[in-house]
Amino acid sequence: MRLIIQPDYLAISEWTASYVVQKINNHKGSGPFVLGLPTGSSPLGTYQKLIEYHKAGKVSFSNVITFNMDEYIGIPQDHPQSYHSFMWKNFFSHIDIRPGNVHIPNGNAANLEEECKQYEEKMAAFGGVDLFLGGIGPDGHIAFNEPGSSLTSRTRIKTLTYDTILANSRFFDNDPLKVPTTALTVGVSTVMDAREVLIIANGHNKARALRQAVEEGVNHMWTISALQLHPKGIIVCDEAATAELKVGTYNYFKDIEKHNLMI
Ligand code: GLP
Repeated sequence: MRLIIQPDYLAISEWTASYVVQKINNHKGSGPFVLGLPTGSSPLGTYQKLIEYHKAGKVSFSNVITFNMDEYIGIPQDHPQSYHSFMWKNFFSHIDIRPGNVHIPNGNAANLEEECKQYEEKMAAFGGVDLFLGGIGPDGHIAFNEPGSSLTSRTRIKTLTYDTILANSRFFDNDPLKVPTTALTVGVSTVMDAREVLIIANGHNKARALRQAVEEGVNHMWTISALQLHPKGIIVCDEAATAELKVGTYNYFKDIEKHNLMI
């Protein structure tokens, strides 16, 4: 696992967006690039940078297929807090992606289990995901794989923990009662099947999760820790998120990345 420690959120966003641009551009001529995407506040800066790079002519998304990680169940697609609305508002409307290449789980499907099965099949039909971007919850969840989720899980229906409902209530008038209690989410294993996984972790409230991910063992109570088993896992974090790491761990990754010529 690589741990890229950046001074602040802007630097994380620039690093991540540059990495994505490089991957998309290097893939030219090898068919569509399949990109897994998260919602939440963590990737917002990356989306802004990607939009900027697109407008500057550095990257085109015309040959990119996207798969989002998750979606709430039971709120209309055009609800301002649905992940559909989030993605179109903050990213897709500003780039040259073909609408038909965007995939987001449908939390209003008549048959939700069938929706999950088909979502996995669609990913497989495109040859799997090249790069999955993600964030983490303060309790170390990836997508909506809450503590205790099977590390071999696939796309399915999940009940959200009260911690997550509380954390996400900031988008629902600070009212936990307005936050949906269930969601469709890709599984831990779905994310781990991607050829590369890049996780963004910023701020003090991610420090405990980052420590578990980097210094502790693989454990279903911190689903992000599954990244330790991935051959190409990267976490990009800011200084604030390193607050719980041992000084030795911090210095080790700072030192080893100093000589890494890959961005
Ligand atoms: C939600 C999403 C996750 C995201 C997490 C953290 O639970 N399902 O994919 O990583 O929130 O969100 P934020 O980036 O806003 O801290």
